[in-house]
Amino acid sequence: MNTMIKADWTRKDLLGLRELSAEEISLILGTAESFKEVIGRPIKKVPALRGKTVVNLFYEPSTRTRISFEIAAKRLSADVINISTETSSVRKGETLIDTGRNIEALKVDMIVMRHSCSGAAAMLARHMGASIINAGDGWHEHPTQALLDIFTLKEKLGRIEGIHVAIVGDIAHSRVARSNIWGLTKLGARVTVCAPPLLIPPRIEEMGVSITHNIEEALSEADAVNVLRMQFERDTGDAFPQQLEYFKNFGITEERLKKAKKNIIVMHPGPINRGIEMSSEVADGANSVILEQVTNGIAIRMAALFLVAQANDSRKARKTKSPKAEVRQPAADPPPQERSSEAVGLRKI
Ligand code: NCD
Repeated sequence: MNTMIKADWTRKDLLGLRELSAEEISLILGTAESFKEVIGRPIKKVPALRGKTVVNLFYEPSTRTRISFEIAAKRLSADVINISTETSSVRKGETLIDTGRNIEALKVDMIVMRHSCSGAAAMLARHMGASIINAGDGWHEHPTQALLDIFTLKEKLGRIEGIHVAIVGDIAHSRVARSNIWGLTKLGARVTVCAPPLLIPPRIEEMGVSITHNIEEALSEADAVNVLRMQFERDTGDAFPQQLEYFKNFGITEERLKKAKKNIIVMHPGPINRGIEMSSEVADGANSVILEQVTNGIAIRMAALFLVAQANDSRKARKTKSPKAEVRQPAADPPPQERSSEAVGLRKI
């Protein structure tokens, strides 16, 4: 199967969808299609990453994403190590860069990282020869979640160009919303965000989306609705309306779906808070593709791991051929202004 994949992916890391071209996004989606076939086989494994080691470094809680990356790496025959920051030296005050460098010294090829600070994955990537995959950084980006959402939409609707997606919920604190907006708009979809005013970030319209505070209006023209959880764990001050009030005004219910397009697709990245952002009937109903999203996540993460591993191998091979090029690489020693931000940790937005 792998001989079928003509990857011209050149990035060592996958940090966000903002910096990717539509072609690069389509390449990941196409690669994931091939891997989806693998996970449907009785023997769900290919040797693509045999001999590679992936570390899952999660500084925030996760069920789906961490397990999904672990399964994806195992399906590609990589060795996987999960680091829980609760039981690691992070608890003893080690900086992110020191943790990363120590992991790298153990000859690890890829680090999948989740962190509560925006920019954490990008900072680690700048200091590391290993590939970094961002599994969610603060409110900033969660590229593989958006890719699996887009993959699921494409599977259901046959295309992304010209479709209309409503993203409803806590847009302000959501990395899933941001990555979805970058990815969907680059591929030519229309996006409307819908939430109470305090949960819409300033200048979001500059990302090419429409805004409404009326849920009926958001649903009326949408081919799909991606429903987001309230990010209660983020430092959100008074932004949250009362939960019951929120459900009354913005919750996705069967009554509301009756007024939407008949086959509207209902998505959610999980974890769902039933009775707050959507009713149980909708979460488990005929329009919901929530569990299909979870399955598709494995194929997307296999594609991401495969493509960055391949690109990093080519990069290393080029460096070995041309030692002069290596001297010019800025990797190991960051400029002084970076050192200070590294020492104090990262900006939390
Ligand atoms: C999302 C996340 O962690 O950003 N969940 C996920 O990755 N499946 C969304 C959320 O936590 O609400």
